[in-house]
Amino acid sequence: MKVIIAKNYEEASQKACEIMLDVIKNNPKATLGLATGSTPVKLYEYMVEDHKKNGTSYKDIQTYNLDEYFGLDQSHPQSYHYFMCKHLFNHVDINMENVHVPKGKGNVEEEAKAYNQMLAENPVDIQLLGIGSNGHIGFNEPGTSFDSVTHVVDLKQSTIEDNARLFFDGKIDEVPKQAVSMGIANIMKAKKVLLLAFGEGKAKAVKGMIEGKKTIDLPASALQDHQDCTLIIDEAAASLLSK
Ligand code: PGA
Repeated sequence: MKVIIAKNYEEASQKACEIMLDVIKNNPKATLGLATGSTPVKLYEYMVEDHKKNGTSYKDIQTYNLDEYFGLDQSHPQSYHYFMCKHLFNHVDINMENVHVPKGKGNVEEEAKAYNQMLAENPVDIQLLGIGSNGHIGFNEPGTSFDSVTHVVDLKQSTIEDNARLFFDGKIDEVPKQAVSMGIANIMKAKKVLLLAFGEGKAKAVKGMIEGKKTIDLPASALQDHQDCTLIIDEAAASLLSK
């Protein structure tokens, strides 16, 4: 794992943007694995800014998002499909036919199967990740097998609380209790992984991921085995690291 400690959120997001743009410029048909949450918002802002200023094109880029809430329509303002349109897709020249976010409604078991098939046929060039305060990646909660592929998950109470606070105005009852998520095996197949973590609330998970033992109790620790994994974290998220 390559660990970059940045001064703050802005500097970290800028560095992350450089890495994403490098992949896109080297391969204008690249497949990007994308993430939602508060973590990548600034990165997407910088990617949009670059598109407007420098014309970096997304017209042949394919995207696969990590996850989606179960039970929310794509048009629901808290759905991850909506989030991606709002923060990135609506502002760049991406072809929406090349955009993939797991569907959280309908026959989700079938959808998960189809998603795995698409991922097998379209290897991800760079997978962007955040990390949960409990060490989850995607919605792979503690206890998820490292062999897992796209599946329906039950969200842990800590995740429901984190997301209620950040996105649902504290209304815990409105946060879906389940989601559809790429599995850890899907994530590990990406050629490159870029994980971002900011703030004190992530420090414990970050320490476990980097310095702890590999365990399904901390899903992000699976990344210790990835051949090309870069972590960009701010000083607060790095505060418990011993080295
Ligand atoms: P956050 O979520 O970016 O909103 O902190 C990260 C995650 O749960 O993976």
